[in-house]
Amino acid sequence: MEMNIALLPGDGIGPEVIAQAVKVVKAVGQKFGHQITFKEGLVGACAIDATGDPYPDATHEICAASDAVLFGAIGDPKYDNDPKAKVRPEQGLLRMRQKLGLFANVRPTFTFPSLVHKSPLKLERVDGVDFVFFRELTGGVYFGEPRGRNEQGTKAFDTNVYSKEEIVRLARMGFEAAQKRRKLLTCVDKANVMATSRLWRETVQELAAEYPDVKVEYEFVDAVAMRLIQWPKAYDVLITENLFGDILTDEASVISGSMGLMPSASLGSKVKLFEPIHGSYPQAAGKDIANPLATVLSAAMMFEYAFDMKEEAQAISDVVNLSLAEGVVTEDIAEGGKAYKTSEVGDWLAAKILG
Ligand code: IPM
Ligand code: MG
Repeated sequence: MEMNIALLPGDGIGPEVIAQAVKVVKAVGQKFGHQITFKEGLVGACAIDATGDPYPDATHEICAASDAVLFGAIGDPKYDNDPKAKVRPEQGLLRMRQKLGLFANVRPTFTFPSLVHKSPLKLERVDGVDFVFFRELTGGVYFGEPRGRNEQGTKAFDTNVYSKEEIVRLARMGFEAAQKRRKLLTCVDKANVMATSRLWRETVQELAAEYPDVKVEYEFVDAVAMRLIQWPKAYDVLITENLFGDILTDEASVISGSMGLMPSASLGSKVKLFEPIHGSYPQAAGKDIANPLATVLSAAMMFEYAFDMKEEAQAISDVVNLSLAEGVVTEDIAEGGKAYKTSEVGDWLAAKILG
């Protein structure tokens, strides 16, 4: 099959981890006989430096013409402590999500047997955890208008808005995912306080009739924040609005003990985007020490979700598990064993796929 992949390495460790994913994707292409072409674009702080725009039109054209996007990370400390900066790297990410129509962010949490002891939670609570968030990504308070300040600058406001249509399309993805998994869907909201949440709950209640095989639970977001660390095995598929999803998926990312290992997918239209959930980790940039596995696993998600190639995805997951079992890992998880360089891990994985 012919596959056109847009590469957006972005900032910080982004370029290094994307380079390893590219090695692995090329190896998979060679092994399974796929014709893969890559086109690279600028996004984030590096795009601001080069063009003044965190998501330049040229980058959007590359993404829109591709079959899938592999994205590294964005962000630079020089913007974090300057709330007055007019142009920010994060604006690029939000505009990219919006322009590509990526309304669903899929963030799984699962455990790796060889790393589960690194979880901050007790082993019996995490061993075997396997749930997935479907976070709404192009609506809510992230995009709602009006937003801003009053004339004196002494009051600020953001607006949370959801249309029924936005809720339906996200919820349907959650229901369909639940049907293929353990058939439990949790709708996370704050319906005891917020009008938007009441619309979420009402809409999901209506849809539930169409999915009689899925059990639906409704939980307030504060309770989920608590239960996620108390009893994470209670969850299967969770659906939620943009801001709640942003917060809860960061919480979820540390449960399995391997934040540097969790991949994600953003779906919604023809072009799908795949990215590690960790950030740009500027302290490690350029040092060849960052863990590339979350990006490599994001490439596995790409084969599965963008190209429906389960075998290829499995081949990648298998070599990642092998690298963990054999200790071919970067310093963050080396635990006193040999710490491999980012590039060495990428070379090893690619060689194993071909070997
Ligand atoms: C994420 C990030 C972004 C978000 C930031 C960088 C704008 O935290 O992808 O979760 O809030 O969506
Ligand atoms: Mg976030």
